[in-house]
Amino acid sequence: MNEDQNIKSSLSEERVFDPPQDFAERCGGVWVDSMDTYRELHKASIEDPENFWSTVANELDWFEPWTKVVDWNPPDAKWFVNARTNVCHNCLDRLINLGHGDEPALIWEGEPSGDDGPEVKTYTYRELHAEVCRFANGLKSLGVGRGDIVTIYMGMVPELTIAVLACARIGAPHSVIFGGFSASAIADRVEDAKSRFLITCDGAWRRGAVVPLKAQVDQAATMTDKIETTIVLRRCDNEIDMRVGRDHFWSDIVADQPDDCPCEPMASEDMLFLLYTSGSTGKPKGIVHTTGGYMVHTYLTSRYTFNLRPGHSHVFWCTADVGWITGHSYIIYGILQNHVPTLMYEGAPNHPEPDRFWDIIERHKVTHFYTAPTAIRAFMKWGDEHPRKHDLSSLRVLGTVGEPINPEAWMWYHRMIGREQCPIVDTWWQTETGGHMITPLPGATPTVPGSCTLPFLGIDAAVVDSTGRELPPNEGGLLVIRKPWPSMLRGVYGDRQRFIDTYFSAVEGMYFAGDSARRDDQGNFWIMGRMDDVINVSGHRLGTMEVESALVSHDAVVEAAVVGMPHEIKGTGIAAFCTLSGDYTPDDALRGQLRAHVAEEIGPIAKPDIIRFTDALPKTRSGKIMRRLLRDVAEGKESTGDMTTLEDFSVLAKLRGDQE
Ligand code: PRX
Repeated sequence: MNEDQNIKSSLSEERVFDPPQDFAERCGGVWVDSMDTYRELHKASIEDPENFWSTVANELDWFEPWTKVVDWNPPDAKWFVNARTNVCHNCLDRLINLGHGDEPALIWEGEPSGDDGPEVKTYTYRELHAEVCRFANGLKSLGVGRGDIVTIYMGMVPELTIAVLACARIGAPHSVIFGGFSASAIADRVEDAKSRFLITCDGAWRRGAVVPLKAQVDQAATMTDKIETTIVLRRCDNEIDMRVGRDHFWSDIVADQPDDCPCEPMASEDMLFLLYTSGSTGKPKGIVHTTGGYMVHTYLTSRYTFNLRPGHSHVFWCTADVGWITGHSYIIYGILQNHVPTLMYEGAPNHPEPDRFWDIIERHKVTHFYTAPTAIRAFMKWGDEHPRKHDLSSLRVLGTVGEPINPEAWMWYHRMIGREQCPIVDTWWQTETGGHMITPLPGATPTVPGSCTLPFLGIDAAVVDSTGRELPPNEGGLLVIRKPWPSMLRGVYGDRQRFIDTYFSAVEGMYFAGDSARRDDQGNFWIMGRMDDVINVSGHRLGTMEVESALVSHDAVVEAAVVGMPHEIKGTGIAAFCTLSGDYTPDDALRGQLRAHVAEEIGPIAKPDIIRFTDALPKTRSGKIMRRLLRDVAEGKESTGDMTTLEDFSVLAKLRGDQE
């Protein structure tokens, strides 16, 4: 936690929006239809989680039943103990067996838009099943087996979903790396996971340009010797090098493969995937998710949070990248299990024009749209004329995720996109939680702009002080989850101590999320922000120390301190303060070089918005950088609070004077 964490509770909001009168009618029914039903279900789910979760789990297929629903030994949870299942089976085979094989499962739209419009591909459950099986067989032919961690570094192409499901099918945990990360980020993750297999593309389309993914992989392979085999999908036909013996084309390994491949019967607690996320240290951590609990939790949250009603012509579109947890849970696993087609879009929201998203919604008749506040703020800025050009009347439910949504953006989303007819579900959760934790249920919960409202069924969320005492309304404190939930992380890969220290040490026996929050008089949760050195840039999580390490790895930088600062579109921007070695001139050219260097080291999302050069950083007498002061400087605020430990007051004065 920050040495200078200072909890404010200044948020307040009077506007409340009840679910629209005709919501059930427009959706073909509603799962949770009133606050009374919600309260009843929530109470029952907390009092008897075994009964609640086993009822849900029984809607899915299991190869062997569980002997116990949950085994909780803080910090270790086991769900559906001794049961066997396969998540890919529940996403595809189960629905085919139920007679839905010829219905659409995955709709994909490419970014380039020619004279005939963009490329669109639709896969039925049967077609997707066949592709997944062929690729799964291809993986096996290269020696991938149960338990082998497979790294996936691809653009948003349908083969990404196919690769993820194929891994799940054969019991090889996947570790998806966001396509915007750099070669050294790939190398770090491959090294940590000891992953011998890597799937990539020649390139990815982004705003009309090709991002050369394979070249990044080649560079990563010079930094780690773990990568033994790569599979390369041709997407952009850009020039690539293929190393004989290591690199194989996707098309070659699936050629002649049978379109059936049995599912591995996985134990509930077998690892389904690893997903790296940022924490307070420089090193990203591999969050471990397992099979049974994750499957059940993403199934139920998809169904209830979005009120998915199979058979009612829904099209679900989550705009996240599969490289983040949102894409894992709500593009692939949760939505496919629910027998609702999931839409995947390859490219940028403003290519070729800033109305691309609204155009997609109109053409595909999207009913459920799930995006991030940062995107909403960008749309607001681009202007109302873009959504106004399109018929958005197919929409039923809108969602947001990733960062707090400011009430102004919420209201714009509600009026301009939802035309005041679509409930907004502001879903609070994390990579670590696997699925939604606090969220409105669209047919029941009155929504309040800026609040993620109430805990999901089965989730015992609370705001407490460091002794675990629940705080009264309107008092800010630590956001914790007091009881286990099925999709909770099972560990930090290869680092037991970090798992315990990060999540189970702040408050005895409870999961601490890293966020501060308060509840209002109605019990609604208001997320106040991170309490650790994690910043949320455009909904992407970054550790300030990761960016600092990247900066100091440049010859010019002796010391660096990075803090978040308010940013109109990104929510939080990155401000970096650097001291330089004597040989370098503090000018804009160097600023440009450092920004490019950070992009090289981590990825473009981590580029600082402002870089200030300084002779020294403000420190306490014990040598700790006083980030609170730097945050104030970045925000242009006068510093208040305790400065008595500041080693050298003149440092602060100089920092204020130094304009970029
Ligand atoms: O600070 C919270 C913020 O995003 C963090 C989790 O980031 P990540 O693991 O990358 O997952 C993002 C997608 C689930 C949280 O600790 N956050 C996420 N959703 C919200 C949010 N903050 C406020 N409101 C939300 N709805």
